[in-house]
Amino acid sequence: MSTHPPIPSRRLLEAVETWGTPLYVYDEATIRERCQSLRELFGTLPYRLLYALKANYNPHLLRIIREEGFDFDAVSLGEVELLRRALGVGPEAILFTPNMLSDAEMREAAEQGLLLNIGELGRLERFAAAYPGHAVALRVNPDLGSGHHEYVITAGERSKFGIPRSDLPRAIEIAQRAELRIVGLHQHIGSGIPNPAAFAEAMEVLLGLADSFPDLEWLDFGGGFPIPYRPEERPWDREEIRARILAPLEAFLHQHRRPICFYFEPGRYVVAEAGLLLVRVTELKRVGSRWYAGTDSGFHHLIRPVLYGSYHHIVNLSNPHGPLRPYTITGNLCESGDIFARDRELPEIRPGDVLAILDAGAYGMSMASTYNLRELPAEVLYTTEGRFRLIRPRPDRAAFIEQILRQTAFVPPGDVAQLDT
Ligand code: LLP
Repeated sequence: MSTHPPIPSRRLLEAVETWGTPLYVYDEATIRERCQSLRELFGTLPYRLLYALKANYNPHLLRIIREEGFDFDAVSLGEVELLRRALGVGPEAILFTPNMLSDAEMREAAEQGLLLNIGELGRLERFAAAYPGHAVALRVNPDLGSGHHEYVITAGERSKFGIPRSDLPRAIEIAQRAELRIVGLHQHIGSGIPNPAAFAEAMEVLLGLADSFPDLEWLDFGGGFPIPYRPEERPWDREEIRARILAPLEAFLHQHRRPICFYFEPGRYVVAEAGLLLVRVTELKRVGSRWYAGTDSGFHHLIRPVLYGSYHHIVNLSNPHGPLRPYTITGNLCESGDIFARDRELPEIRPGDVLAILDAGAYGMSMASTYNLRELPAEVLYTTEGRFRLIRPRPDRAAFIEQILRQTAFVPPGDVAQLDT
């Protein structure tokens, strides 16, 4: 990140004029740049990049990422269907890594020809019984995890994910009995991994397992590449990545002389810094010694600060040169925890000001809800030609409520009366 939005403030205020707030804005150039930088980084190796669309599934962004040469990491049949319908992407471009899969989902996945990445012994047993001779991948728990918050550490002894290393002999036995071909080993140790050393340490575990799997075609090290959210944070150092991550992979290929492809599954890195959430200040309120700036959004639109205590840099777009003062920036939900930032120094905030909440492109809109029956934000794309394109219109309130009535199959009394007459 920087302390500035990737799009000129003047243009962002224009977008607010046109589409109002709350509004997610994404910068196409930043997304393409992040994709290219990953391709450049891994380009000397046999590699494959799978975008984790849970970070942001807007189909307009998926198309850009697809154009940049990415395949996809999907975790639900919903994600698979969106990829197919939006981009015509089929099973050959998807690694399917669900967890706690049901039997019905397994059958559907197999019928669609998806390669299933299995992280539970029980599921492997049921897959083996139903699909002997098939190809399959195993999600491994390398016994060490790392991430920006306890909730996003997805390996290690307190994690529900992956087959523990100690269970791998049993997994091999199950596979052998059913003549399953284990074509890939996967791990994803967490999200927002603070340094390349933690990633590399887990990587060594997976590399060390490769020899026990004769049919192996690829190793997948998951996602987890962080972005700097705070002004004082820095991205992973490229030299360190080369030394700790790329060099061991090159050495592995050299030693083993097996045609193994290396997969990575970035989500956050691709889209986080490209996106920001624009909100309008609706209220300024003094409580004791504290100033609260209330906005027309909240954790229903960006849950990261509340769920993980995450820091998102905030910029006062409409009063950038005002005197600095501490504010607690809140949303408009009926919960005390609905806070974007506490005691944050910002240029003087006035009712009506527009604030930009930065680095919100990943796990912002994709985790948004309609809690309190507030509509989802609109989304716009700032194209590489410097134009805005509406990529999700703001839902119309009447249609939004109508949808709830329809989904609940509820017939309002007036309508019944009409039907009766
Ligand atoms: N692959 C798998 C199997 C995953 O579960 C995830 C994320 C990724 C790849 C992509 O990870 P990334 O590169 O984005 O770190 N909502 C949280 C993050 C949850 C990540 C869940 N899994 C947040 O806002 O920080």
